[in-house]
Amino acid sequence: MKVEFKEILNQEILSQKGFIQDIQKGLTEKGYFIAKDLINKDFYKRVKLDSLKHVDKLEKYKSKLPEPLRGDLRAGIRDLSGYCKNNYWHLYRTCFFPWNRIKNENKTMIELSRRLSKLRNKVIGVDENYGTLIEENGDIAYTSLSYYPPCNGFLKGHSDSTYGKPIVHFKVELTHKGVDYFKGGFFIVDKKGLLIDISAKVKPTDVIFFEGNCIHGINPISNSNLGRVALFEIPTSVNSSSRMNLYSNDGWNIVSRMIYKISNKFDKQNKILTPIIIKLTQKIFSFLQF
Ligand SMILES: [Fe+2]
Repeated sequence: MKVEFKEILNQEILSQKGFIQDIQKGLTEKGYFIAKDLINKDFYKRVKLDSLKHVDKLEKYKSKLPEPLRGDLRAGIRDLSGYCKNNYWHLYRTCFFPWNRIKNENKTMIELSRRLSKLRNKVIGVDENYGTLIEENGDIAYTSLSYYPPCNGFLKGHSDSTYGKPIVHFKVELTHKGVDYFKGGFFIVDKKGLLIDISAKVKPTDVIFFEGNCIHGINPISNSNLGRVALFEIPTSVNSSSRMNLYSNDGWNIVSRMIYKISNKFDKQNKILTPIIIKLTQKIFSFLQF
């Protein structure tokens, strides 16, 4: 069934006078703003259902999942699900990139994420389509679904920025504190230095906007049935190597062709060897630490 764009968000809330300015004011004064009832209830239910089905599948394949993506993004890669448990984070994360065709079962999550990304762009005063495709400077945005497991899922407090520029994030919580888990959840240190338990304030269909340069993270989840599931769209940049125009051309001499072929071969080997070497280094380091 095709979803009309206007069915994704609650039009009554969206058309309230001064709605965008209220978000901007909250961000400037406190570093965060909770837009109550912003998502259309029926659409929210569908996103929640699809997300829970998705994280259920991830748990089943836990042992086969690679580490989740954080940072360096190569343009053109496949959508990626990962799992990690270390001193920094314990979570499952799936990234849906805008250059990949959307699978039916992920459609609602991605549609919501992209719609809210347009709204976020409006809040920060850039074109609403900014980051839907790779921009001239390499900027891009992609959908991320995070699942913090019921037993001790967490993300250490940190701040985000790109090239020193602050980022405005939005987050949609799909499970809730006081219902699906009772301890832990999303926190932020606001601009007055107060530690705010955001998850305790958020209800279904609410959307959180916050400045990524305020310290934020996920306190360990416990007393939980479903864990914490949340959706957001990460504004970032693709790495510079994926923007290099390396390509072949008709009429090249044999030496140029060979150089090109060899350089491609190294690239392929790189993709196989690098993860193995990184894993080995990680193992050596953790052995030396304990
Ligand atoms: Fe962050």
